[in-house]
Amino acid sequence: MPRILVCGSLAEAGLEVLREAGEVIVRTDLDDQQLQEAVAEVDAVVVRSGTQVTASVIESAPKLRVIARAGVGVDNIDLAAATRCGVLVVNSPVGNTLAAAEHTIALMLAAARRIPQAASSLSAGKWDRKSYTGRQLFDKTLGLVGLGKVGVEVAKRALAFGMNVVAYDPYVSLQQAKAVGVTLLDSLQDLAAQADYLSLHCTLTPETECMVDGRLLGMMKPEAVLVNCARGGLVDEAALAQALRDGAIDAAALDVFAQEPTDNTELLQLPNLIATPHVGASTEEAQTGVAVDAARQVADVLSGRMPRWPVNAPPLSAEALAAVEPYLGLVRSLGVLGRSLMSGSPRRVELAAVADLTSEHMDYLTGELVVAVLGGIVEGTLNFINAATVARERGIELAQAKIQQTGGYANLLQVRINTSADELLIAGALLGGSDIRIVRLDGYRLELLPRQTAVLIWNAQSGRPGFVGKLGSVLGAAGINITGIQVAPETVAGIGLMAVTVADTITEPVREQIVQLPGVERVEIVDLSTHYS
Ligand code: MLT
Repeated sequence: MPRILVCGSLAEAGLEVLREAGEVIVRTDLDDQQLQEAVAEVDAVVVRSGTQVTASVIESAPKLRVIARAGVGVDNIDLAAATRCGVLVVNSPVGNTLAAAEHTIALMLAAARRIPQAASSLSAGKWDRKSYTGRQLFDKTLGLVGLGKVGVEVAKRALAFGMNVVAYDPYVSLQQAKAVGVTLLDSLQDLAAQADYLSLHCTLTPETECMVDGRLLGMMKPEAVLVNCARGGLVDEAALAQALRDGAIDAAALDVFAQEPTDNTELLQLPNLIATPHVGASTEEAQTGVAVDAARQVADVLSGRMPRWPVNAPPLSAEALAAVEPYLGLVRSLGVLGRSLMSGSPRRVELAAVADLTSEHMDYLTGELVVAVLGGIVEGTLNFINAATVARERGIELAQAKIQQTGGYANLLQVRINTSADELLIAGALLGGSDIRIVRLDGYRLELLPRQTAVLIWNAQSGRPGFVGKLGSVLGAAGINITGIQVAPETVAGIGLMAVTVADTITEPVREQIVQLPGVERVEIVDLSTHYS
């Protein structure tokens, strides 16, 4: 039974889904060392933002197949290490969108009307109606940094308040922005200069770290408010404290901090700062949503299905998965054949297709091809998640192409493998849309059913009377059942190719006897049985 480690509190509905999928271990108190020990025997880990899944943690988990983030941000997971180790990372990008958007609006209103300060004053026994004169949101400009899922929901709500909404997001088109009533600006600096409220809705990456620094704060209006419900690291906290003290901006409202829990009292004690302890996603609805979304994906991965929101793998929709499914057995068979026949280490592996496959499909199939070509050659986990990374680390170029010469096949894949010694070309087709055949090996045409064991014989006397009889005698004497024989119709430089499929194991002495038959130049025995589907 798979073991699933849950770090942090997860909504009961998510735990229920996980219990169906395996043995669930909930640990809420692990430090880095304890986490490294706890993952040693687990197949899946579920985390929230408080757990750092470092490279050391991932490398301490030889059985780990999936890390699920119950939430959006995956900046607490070492994605490169996960990918390198063939561990799938999934997140839950939709469950807490509305919670984060509503909290953003709540913080804007709270900052605009100084609600926390007014409430504390009243709790302290004062009745002070003069110090808390705020400003309306109506007619003000909201500048959104990032117009993704949360940014769009914030925009819709701000528009309902009568705000003018502008955004900076280099990954969104003018049309997409226009469709939600938002004007897209060309630069972050323009956005900062125009905004009465500047709200952050982007991910934390090395490029976005401290994007709100002293310079940007200096471009903002003195009456402006900064709101951050995304990630603390986006803001230079020392520069923000300075800007709030100097009155360079009017106020800031933060839900997230560079270090969490934060101990930045210099910032927290400023009268024009309001802060919440990373509770943007803390609604009952959102917690249930992200927990169930994360748990379902863990169950999917553990039972061999593609999860809905993979972060470090080609994001294949159910439709795309259905489109590539028939080709999986074919591409694996081609890869295994390539691995058995290539001379030396591959330098370049190319997958070409004639079929109606998109680049998304081709990326996935290329991953499967690399797994088949390098399987048994590289140590450690090798799967479609880390296949491209492992190939690149070994200096293998991966390429994709379109097949020009179809040879009359509608669903054709072709694999070209270059080593330092030579080039190998193998093609395969799906007959009738599903029946796998190897149809080409270098210059030879075949229609080889890639199952059982294939004996490939390059022979100067191929097709000549008597050869098949002699071969049959060798195999018959060894008690080996022949299930199919094919002779390629052409010869290449006087050498023909014969492909024989057999139901039994060919031992080395039997192989040696075949090599000794008249005219035989080369014999290769390839086990294709486990890759046929
Ligand atoms: C998220 O990334 O989903 C939110 O910040 C909430 C959380 O960290 O749990």
